[in-house]
Amino acid sequence: MSDLKIIVTRRWPETVENELKAMCSDVTLNEKDEPMTRAELQKALQEADCVLPTVTDPINAEVLGVSDMKCRFLGNFGVGFNHIDLDAAKKANLVVSNTPEVLTDCTADIAMTLMLSVARRAGEGERHLRSKSWIGWRPTHMVGSKVSGKTLGIIGYGRIAKAVSQRAHCGFGMKIVYFDPSKPAPAEGVTAECMDTIEDVLKVSDYVSLHCPGGDATRHLINAERLKLMKNGAFLINTARGDIVDSGALINALKNGDIAGAGLDVYEGEPNLDPGFLDLENAVLLPHLGSASKETRIAMGRRVLTNLEAWMAGKEPPDRVA
Ligand code: DGY
Repeated sequence: MSDLKIIVTRRWPETVENELKAMCSDVTLNEKDEPMTRAELQKALQEADCVLPTVTDPINAEVLGVSDMKCRFLGNFGVGFNHIDLDAAKKANLVVSNTPEVLTDCTADIAMTLMLSVARRAGEGERHLRSKSWIGWRPTHMVGSKVSGKTLGIIGYGRIAKAVSQRAHCGFGMKIVYFDPSKPAPAEGVTAECMDTIEDVLKVSDYVSLHCPGGDATRHLINAERLKLMKNGAFLINTARGDIVDSGALINALKNGDIAGAGLDVYEGEPNLDPGFLDLENAVLLPHLGSASKETRIAMGRRVLTNLEAWMAGKEPPDRVA
């Protein structure tokens, strides 16, 4: 058992917290499960050998600029690491790892959930029924848009996007087009066209699903101009990061009917999303649930432990990102 000091910034599934405690004798958990403040994160970096943060912890240059840093390893619980300034982490001699692969299926499933829900008006329908407004079946009631056989445009074609394209193409017979600057080949079993620009994808798609990483390079990649390129009947799905989309521009596009709807799991400034979204019937809004299944959250925790164990043994963590 290691006696290194470990600080975990949020609660994990109990099973994995126990597995961590069996590995290390000095583990501090965040019992209250409240996001740590900047000062608390800095104190953690000064006191612990390893800090195990997650996507709600902004570990930016300022936080990492703390004096007398003891921490040497950041094992992120999550695949996305745009909340960690990797350059500043490298300068501070920190090793950083993430948790790829284990959440691919669940996040792809949530993208499909959003696509189906917003197109078939599932959120709206449920609200209608629960408010006791339903007077019965009729041919014109709550008619939505068909998903099967339509064109799905994907921006960013990494692991999760590929899993979405498999579900959409093989399960729903959708035509797949995508843009990714590295021009990867289509996923196994998928016939798909890699397009030259984001604009090409936006113009031809009935559904657009975002799967690029967050961060400065993709901030407001989907802005008012690009939303205008989408078909009026099209839907935007975002399970990646909130700041990829300009919220104000999206709210306007949804209000003006420039696009038909949006299915969102992530938001700029979450959990404080733009209140303008809340009044829109044509937006399906989930609270960042992409990886939220029991199996996946346990697998994510175990993936952190695998990386931590490797680092503690002086080996290269398998999912090292810095
Ligand atoms: C991640 O891992 O980056 C997700 O956003 C959390 O589900």
